[in-house]
Amino acid sequence: MNDIRNIVILTGAGISAESGLATFRGPDGLWEGHRVEDVCTPEALARNPALVHRFYDERRAKLAEVKPNAAHEALAALDAAWPGELLIVTQNVDDLHERAGAKRLIHMHGELRSAFCAACGRAVPWVEALPPASPCGGCGQPRMRPDIVFFGEMPYEMDRIEEALRRADLFVSVGTSGAVYPAAGFVQTARHVGARTIELNLDPSAGSFYFEESRMGPASRLVPELVHDLLA
Ligand code: OAD
Repeated sequence: MNDIRNIVILTGAGISAESGLATFRGPDGLWEGHRVEDVCTPEALARNPALVHRFYDERRAKLAEVKPNAAHEALAALDAAWPGELLIVTQNVDDLHERAGAKRLIHMHGELRSAFCAACGRAVPWVEALPPASPCGGCGQPRMRPDIVFFGEMPYEMDRIEEALRRADLFVSVGTSGAVYPAAGFVQTARHVGARTIELNLDPSAGSFYFEESRMGPASRLVPELVHDLLA
C-alpha cells in the first residue's frame, strides 16, 4: 500500500448494521411490507406523504438509540491521520460517520437529520418527527420534506465525487449491495483510472466481480484491519 496517496471510500448500510440499523435489502429489509424502492420516490411522496414521512420519522428516531461502531471509528481515525487526499462517500442517511469524527465526508443520498423546503430549497437541521405539510421557516410554504435523495432524483455532490474518483489510487467499498446507481458504478470509474479496488462486505455483492480484491466479513473487523494496514 506504499504507493497510495489518494483514497475514496464508499460506504453503505452494512457499515451501520452492527450499530443496530437495519439494512435495506437484507432478510429484514422490508418495511411494513414495502420495498424501499416503493417508499422512497417523488411519486410516493406526492401520493402518500404520511407514509413516506413516517418511514423517515421512524429512521430518524432510531438514531437516538444507536452509536458508531469500530468501522466508523476506524474510518474517522484514517480521515484524521491520512496525509493525502481522502473522501468518504456514504450512501447512508444516518449520522454515524460524523459522530465518530469523520470530516472529509459526503452524504450522497441526503441526511435523516436534515429537512428541506420543496418550494424554496432551504435546508435546515431536523431532529424531531417531520409531519407532512410542515411550514418552511423561510418562505412559509407547507412543503418541508425529508432531506433524502429519492429514487429518480440526482444524488448530491456528484461533481466532487467524480473528481475524487478520477484522482484515486485506492477505491474501497464497504457494506453496500451494489444495487443502486450511480454509487454502484464508482468502482468502474476507479478501475478506469487505474486505482486499486477493494470490496469489504459480509457477502459477495452484485458488483463483486468488478473489484480486484474482495474481503468477506463484518465491517467492524475488516475496516479496522484495512485502516491499520494503510497507516502502518
Ligand atoms: P443494502 O441493504 O442494499 O446492502 C447492505 C449490504 O451490506 C449487503 O451487501 C450486506 O451483505 C452488507 N452487510 C450487512 N451487514 C454487514 C456487516 N456487518 N459488515 C459488512 N457488510 C454488511 O444497502 P445499500 O447498498 O447501502 O438509498 O443500499 C443502497 C441504497 O439503497 C441506500 O442508500 C438507500 C437504499 O434505497 C436511499 O436511501 C436513497
